[in-house]
Amino acid sequence: MRVLIVGSGLAGLECALTAHELGHDVTILTKGQLADSATAWAQGGVAVALGPDDSPALHAADTMRASANLAVPSAVDVLVSDGPDIVRELTERGAHFDRASDGELARGREAAHSVARVIHAGGDATGREIERALIAAIRSTTVTVVEHTALLDLILHDGRVTGVTTLSDAGEAGRWSADAVVLATGGAGMLYPFTTNPAVATGDGLAAALRAGAATSDLEFVQFHPTALAGAAGALISEAVRGDGAVLRNAAGERFMLTVHPDAELAPRDVVARAVARQMAADRAPAWLDATALRPAPDNAAYLAERFPTIDRLCRANGIDWSRAWVPVTPAAHYIMGGVDTDSDGRTTLPGLWAVGEVARTGVHGANRLASNSLLEAAVFARRAARSLDIPAPSGRSLRGTHHTPEPAGARTWRREDLQNIMWHAAGLERSEDGLREADAQIAHWAEQTFTPSTVHELEDRNLLDVARAVVRAALGRRESVGAHYRVDDEAARTDANRRPEAHHV
Ligand code: SIN
Repeated sequence: MRVLIVGSGLAGLECALTAHELGHDVTILTKGQLADSATAWAQGGVAVALGPDDSPALHAADTMRASANLAVPSAVDVLVSDGPDIVRELTERGAHFDRASDGELARGREAAHSVARVIHAGGDATGREIERALIAAIRSTTVTVVEHTALLDLILHDGRVTGVTTLSDAGEAGRWSADAVVLATGGAGMLYPFTTNPAVATGDGLAAALRAGAATSDLEFVQFHPTALAGAAGALISEAVRGDGAVLRNAAGERFMLTVHPDAELAPRDVVARAVARQMAADRAPAWLDATALRPAPDNAAYLAERFPTIDRLCRANGIDWSRAWVPVTPAAHYIMGGVDTDSDGRTTLPGLWAVGEVARTGVHGANRLASNSLLEAAVFARRAARSLDIPAPSGRSLRGTHHTPEPAGARTWRREDLQNIMWHAAGLERSEDGLREADAQIAHWAEQTFTPSTVHELEDRNLLDVARAVVRAALGRRESVGAHYRVDDEAARTDANRRPEAHHV
């Protein structure tokens, strides 16, 4: 059958490879170049229960606990049980994961994991290595790759998704028909002015699914990473650095996480991100990440360069010798836990449409994603989706886009930065009813200014507006604080302190 996969991160590539192996006629559409995706930016690694001290059940327990028990247990079971096999498969596809001196896969520790279970590649270049291997694998197949082609909308016939419309970098509109459409379009970090995501993360698939009427959930749960390099446009400093012993300090040099949570710097990500934001507000300055004592001087510099080469280059490019000096850090939007509802095989509520990777809401993250579960989720559910593409046989027509010139654009009065600022203040790390209501009204006003996107940037803006509206409405709908959704006006707010026993208990 003709399978159209939109997006070329780990989820899209894994789905494409598996579908191709199963004999489907696969085309990948991608907005930029094949390698432009959040996957390539992923540092920490892939969480997977491989060690003798670990088990899928323990991984599931950590995942549920980090999710504030809002993850769906059956989806989590799929995630952790398929994990070891998908890692074996990624290795067979050519991904080289780092090995310890005993020859076994090296396993790092990250926040809220009760054991070291995060495998990595190139030190802190895990996503880049996986993306490299999968692109090489794709290039050796007959999978068709169409770059510089952005998703505009889903085509629906009698309630079934039968293809997509697109817009190219050159402003040319396209129409593609398929027996199955798989959204693998990633997240929407560009909703916020500070994000660890690449510029392509504009919620394109999520917006198209919302417009087509697909069910979505958990959109109020947006994860903020606690440690982006301050002043460097959201550049990530992996949680693996804290997992390796780095600590957070305030302006006075004190370890402020010690009084926030018993797991201190390795508390669940939402807890650490809020604590960093509050400390920054109190100090009116960035917080500090101290990695100066991971190894005794003078070995620390060489250790950091070897274990975290990407971050080492980043720090040095910003004039910081992090083997001896603290790194200024700030929270930044990182991942959206919610998305297009899927079953455990990636099927959405719209026949003919699947969703995999960050755009999907499989149920494995609940209110807060456990560190390094995202690459695992992308791979596990992408493979399952490819195996479930069970709709009728190929029609014999090959998949081809037809092109036409888009309608002229209408007028609007807002810019992307306006939307990002509203989202940061009203739907960021802390939210309130009043702030969310104001944001909702402003976004609704902007949404009335209908315009036909004639460039990819305009299309992205329209998508961000649609996703922002859905995030704000979801946040309004959940009055209690839970996980990454923190309502300052929740009278009975579970504070980070009273989340301690649950989060600490193993
Ligand atoms: C990180 O390396 O800190 C990010 C890993 C993740 O988002 O799971």
